Amino acid sequence: MDGQDWTDARVLAHSGDASMKTGLKIYIFAITKDMKNAQAFSSLDGDMLIIPQQGALDIQTELGNLLVRQNEIAVIPRGIRHRVTLPTGQARGYICELFQGHFRLPELGPIGTCSLANVRDFQVPVAAFDGTLQDGRACGNNREWQVVSRLDGHLFSCTQNHTPFDVAAWNGTYYPYKYDLARFCVLGSALYDHPDPSLFTVLTAPSYREPGTGVVDFAIIPPRWNVMENTYWLPYYHRNTMTEVSGPIIYNQDECCVWNKGLEFQPYAATVASAMACHGAPEDAHKKAEEQTTAPKKVSTEGFTVFLLETECPLRVADWAIQQFETNGVATATVHGTKSNL
Ligand SMILES: [Fe+2]
Repeated sequence: MDGQDWTDARVLAHSGDASMKTGLKIYIFAITKDMKNAQAFSSLDGDMLIIPQQGALDIQTELGNLLVRQNEIAVIPRGIRHRVTLPTGQARGYICELFQGHFRLPELGPIGTCSLANVRDFQVPVAAFDGTLQDGRACGNNREWQVVSRLDGHLFSCTQNHTPFDVAAWNGTYYPYKYDLARFCVLGSALYDHPDPSLFTVLTAPSYREPGTGVVDFAIIPPRWNVMENTYWLPYYHRNTMTEVSGPIIYNQDECCVWNKGLEFQPYAATVASAMACHGAPEDAHKKAEEQTTAPKKVSTEGFTVFLLETECPLRVADWAIQQFETNGVATATVHGTKSNL
């Protein structure tokens, strides 16, 4: 929204407790401004999975710079300070803040050694020291910086007399990274019926409670070939035990594409389907699917990919989102959820 920056993300839904390191929180951002000069941000609550829907984010982090375009995602670990600017104007998207554990690639099981998201395609920044050389020595700039931190859902700030981006070199296993979703190697049925959408998982955060369950799975339904024969092509209308949050990611980079004009997708729009709530393709899509042939066909070619955040945690939806749904209906937000006081 006009006048908002990276520190103005709004909570869409949450479960658990950051102070107990359980559960997650899902934010939506729709921003038009760079963060202030000499201002940095970090979440002390959890790792941030950033899912741009539209626009690009230039993210300066303590461990280097990440330019994250639409159809790319980024992960910034808990406590890593960063500053977000907008190289192409406004940006919209989603943040999944994970209170427990870390995001990782899913176990591939019988798939074998590769496909889905491959390790080789994740991009990690190199150090980018934001200071100057004085008499042959590296010095952090000496202006005053404001560091904004989110702790237990609340923002705090402090100042310091030097840049937080003062890392000249680093190594280790705790770092931000990005991934181009166009590199996701989609697998699917080559004959009939539908594998579970967990086959589209890009990143997962396993639960400690029970093997095979996840605090959250991040999955995408991107362009792909559909080659199933003599079977129904749409996902089944269904209920399940996971709670699902979904929304569009625009992969068409052409600014003339209708999706990039900001007219079709409303800011802050998302779908939330609580555990055991019925959901699936609408009736008109069902009728269309019944009439079409099942010859091999490239599907989801409209210019946007649907992402899914599937969590075993029952999500509480923010009051503002419930009110938007009650006021504007499905055009702005589709919510099959639990009201809460956020
Ligand atoms: Fe579902």
